[in-house]
Amino acid sequence: MRLTVIGTGYLGAVHAACMADIGHDVLGVDIDTARITALSEGRPPFYEPGFDEVLTRALASGRLRFSNDLRDAARHGEVHFICVGTPQQAGSQAADLRYVNAVVDGLTPHLPASCLVVGKSTVPVGTTARLTDRIAGLAPAGVRAEVAWNPEFLREGFAVEDTLRPDRVVVGVSGREADETLRRVYAPMLKDGVPYISTDPSTAELVKAAANSFLATKISFINAMSEVCDAAGADVATLADALGHDTRIGRQFLNAGIGFGGGCLPKDIRAFAARAEELGVGPALRFLDQVDEINRRQRTRTIALARRLTGGDLAGRRVTVLGATFKPNSDDVRDSPALAVAAALHQQGADVRVHDPMGAANARRAHPELRSGSDLLTACRDAEILLHLTEWSQYREVDPVELAGVVGEPVLIDGRNALPHDAWRAAGWTVRTLGRPYSPAQPSDARSRNPLRATIVSP
Ligand code: UDX
Repeated sequence: MRLTVIGTGYLGAVHAACMADIGHDVLGVDIDTARITALSEGRPPFYEPGFDEVLTRALASGRLRFSNDLRDAARHGEVHFICVGTPQQAGSQAADLRYVNAVVDGLTPHLPASCLVVGKSTVPVGTTARLTDRIAGLAPAGVRAEVAWNPEFLREGFAVEDTLRPDRVVVGVSGREADETLRRVYAPMLKDGVPYISTDPSTAELVKAAANSFLATKISFINAMSEVCDAAGADVATLADALGHDTRIGRQFLNAGIGFGGGCLPKDIRAFAARAEELGVGPALRFLDQVDEINRRQRTRTIALARRLTGGDLAGRRVTVLGATFKPNSDDVRDSPALAVAAALHQQGADVRVHDPMGAANARRAHPELRSGSDLLTACRDAEILLHLTEWSQYREVDPVELAGVVGEPVLIDGRNALPHDAWRAAGWTVRTLGRPYSPAQPSDARSRNPLRATIVSP
């Protein structure tokens, strides 16, 4: 089938390459000419495991091309996928749909024949209906473009795998024809038994907002438990393991730490709550404000802990932050909790160095005031405290004995609760996390010996 994919960010570029990989004839379109040039030459504009290979394979097959002209898209596609961003509006919680609208406005007048327009971006419920009217008003005489919604659930770091082997395909359609078209698009996956859920557009739009809200709520739930654990001297990691054995709950997304970030979860829960207000059901989703607040409090709690561990004042303290991206296996620093904490430490006067295996360049662009580098030992030299804030696997492989010899003070906050703490403690490190009691055996943290004191000073 002839598909266009409009918008070549993390979602669109991966979708375009994967659709070509499963046999479709795909045109990827973006207004960013540098991005289009890079993709056409087989150079991924971002880091995503496995994307390099699938892009190279798709280009070599001749089934994947790129353009920055929506008129090419109009001519090429029988199905047009909209994959542009829906960021948070400046000065509001709601989603900004200007890029989606611009695609529709730029594409529709050039459509030579009837076709299907399929949104994949996360949008407020009701967008399909609104775009249907917008397209009807712009389409050339005799041309009919139906709009469907087909939310995308891919995770960064696993984008290729999630696109080729999704948990489910959800489509929101108004008629049989669109449903059959989308079944043909996804046929190579559906034959492997991937569940296909066909529903109305509003339900499909809601599935995505609801899924991300649920995931965010699950993370904030365990982070709320970490606050209670800190006050009670209990262990949130053991609590999560014990909860997770209940198959109704499940262990995934119960990792307490500095919380969620990225280009989706934070803005999606805000946009969903804002849309609920518009629909007159604001109270139903007001708990999402709490989810957001708990999430942001984990950052504040981490900063407070760092301040206490460096003697109550961060001014002039040498701090090294391990991790800048919002999650490992990505170079994405959008709304990264790690970077937000690093920036806040800097603002409080600390001398901050940030290390990240893949995100250093993006971190520098987002926060030029922070020093960053790719050599771990250099970044840690003479540090008075380390904060482990993105759980890259290479940090788990660091030799804590070697690192103890490089830093000024062997003090670690594990903001992701992912390092082998016993090995670090055995190497002489003071190790602290949110929501876990600290070992009374730690010699360099006298406060931890007194549980009452620990309660008082917990972040
Ligand atoms: C998310 C959804 O998972 C995906 O389905 C949707 O399509 C896009 O949004 P992504 O943003 O790639 O995907 O990241 P995800 O793996 O969901 O993690 C989001 C954030 O939550 C990260 O910052 C991660 O570190 C954090 N997280 C995740 C936790 O703090 N604890 C956990 O237990 C899990």
